[in-house]
Amino acid sequence: MKFLILNGPNLNMLGIREPGIYGNGTYEELKMRITDHSITVGVEVEIFQSNHEGVLVDKLQESYFNKIDGIVINPAAYTHTSVALLDALKSIAIPTVEVHISKVEERENFRQVSYVRQAVIKTITGKGFDGYLEAIDYLKEYLEKNERKSTKG
Ligand code: DQA
Repeated sequence: MKFLILNGPNLNMLGIREPGIYGNGTYEELKMRITDHSITVGVEVEIFQSNHEGVLVDKLQESYFNKIDGIVINPAAYTHTSVALLDALKSIAIPTVEVHISKVEERENFRQVSYVRQAVIKTITGKGFDGYLEAIDYLKEYLEKNERKSTKG
């Protein structure tokens, strides 16, 4: 099973940006935690970050051709603005979990909109870096369940 972990703008600044909201852990630490967890649960992961909307769209399209089984996406600020990311997720139709490090539902009004939410199977917020690990577990279970269903006919 191969998952893409896709991170949007400013997530490379974790550890530096607003530690009161996002914590002190760096992006490198996040990547290490995701890698360690994926080894533990036996899935393959590619972790990718970009500050550019079009690059994120390209990466999502690529995952269709690269036969990615599941996606964990934190679109960061593009969550609240990007129809392009929503359309890309709809185009590829790969099971996707939306993750936010902070509890977006308790923050500013402009963060209450999520375009990608229409195309995801689950949203996890406010669990810090653990949210990514929970998303991986959820996707794995979801895909295993669906596989069992399809082999039963
Ligand atoms: C975020 C929440 C977004 O509103 C914000 O723009 C981010 C990070 C989060 O992980 O909590 O950059 O997606």
